[in-house]
Amino acid sequence: MARKKIALVGAGMIGGTLAHLAAMKEMGDVVLFDIAEGMPSGKALDLAQAAPVEGFDSKLKGTNDYADIAGADVIIVTAGVARKPGMSRDDLLGINLKVMQAVGAGIKEHAPDAFVICITNPLDAMVWALREYSGLPTEKVVGMAGVLDSARFRCFLAEEFDVSVEDVTAFVLGGHGDTMVPVLEYSTVAGIPVPDLIKMGWSTQEKMDAIVKRTRSGGGEIVQLLGNGSAYYAPATSAIMMAESYLKDKKRVLPAAANLTGQYGVDGLYVGVPIVIGANGVERIVEIELNDEAKANFQVSVDAVKELLEACKGIDSSLA
Ligand code: APR
Repeated sequence: MARKKIALVGAGMIGGTLAHLAAMKEMGDVVLFDIAEGMPSGKALDLAQAAPVEGFDSKLKGTNDYADIAGADVIIVTAGVARKPGMSRDDLLGINLKVMQAVGAGIKEHAPDAFVICITNPLDAMVWALREYSGLPTEKVVGMAGVLDSARFRCFLAEEFDVSVEDVTAFVLGGHGDTMVPVLEYSTVAGIPVPDLIKMGWSTQEKMDAIVKRTRSGGGEIVQLLGNGSAYYAPATSAIMMAESYLKDKKRVLPAAANLTGQYGVDGLYVGVPIVIGANGVERIVEIELNDEAKANFQVSVDAVKELLEACKGIDSSLA
């Protein structure tokens, strides 16, 4: 059986980390595409030289030619500009929309059968635009945000409860931005919902509110600390988990930005919801009951995504 092929469009900080993880896990052969000359080949060569030490047999190639992504099973897109301190994800809109146009055309021409995971920000708008420009079926194009946002939530909850991160599940809905909706009722420690843990005296509502707030600005906290870039280890790991669920038909239930067609009262937008990822791409959108507060917060998040799409349509009338 031929090896799987993973194409990474954007070979920057997240792209390089993705290549490292995909190769170490022997998910398949890896192509690093970037517009920067030399750099993707340099990273591919550096990683190939780690192979004898680690013992992985994935082949790695750097390129500036879209033809090299042909036949990719999975494409993970990080091409674009990352945030600098003081910038919001939305500030990236105009620049990264043009990048999505080029990437979408490249995918359409060379790898229309791939499963595509978009990471470029502002995520909910970029994944929508990438789907539009590529013309791929909606179930084959998803955005990575929810796995990362819930990982951040889980990390903070595990710290607060002083338990293993493995036993903490968390639930984050909505757009990937300051309006995301961490849902405490569906977040648990070994199956015990957070509100019950508060009743059991494990923590307080005030502390939970602070954790929700910190989760919402989790990316910004890292941007401030790094000084010239944004997070890359956790975003890369999160996208790899989604890619593995597709390649191995694991049917994992993961929060991700998916195209909604009426679920949660939303039609034609990419918003973060729980989905099942298997060999057919997005195999199911999980629609859960939300309480009034979560519903209201989800709506604020949806409205923020809508505003971004309107801004995209204002920049490129072909999207209208
Ligand atoms: N085609 C291909 N690659 C491009 C293009 C393009 N049109 N435009 C820019 N790039 C490349 C850059 O050359 C750079 O190598 O995208 C890469 C982005 O890498 P970084 O700047 O290191 O950014 P990174 O931290 O990887 O984040 C990428 O993911 O989380 C989001 O907000 C983040 O939008 C950003 C993206």
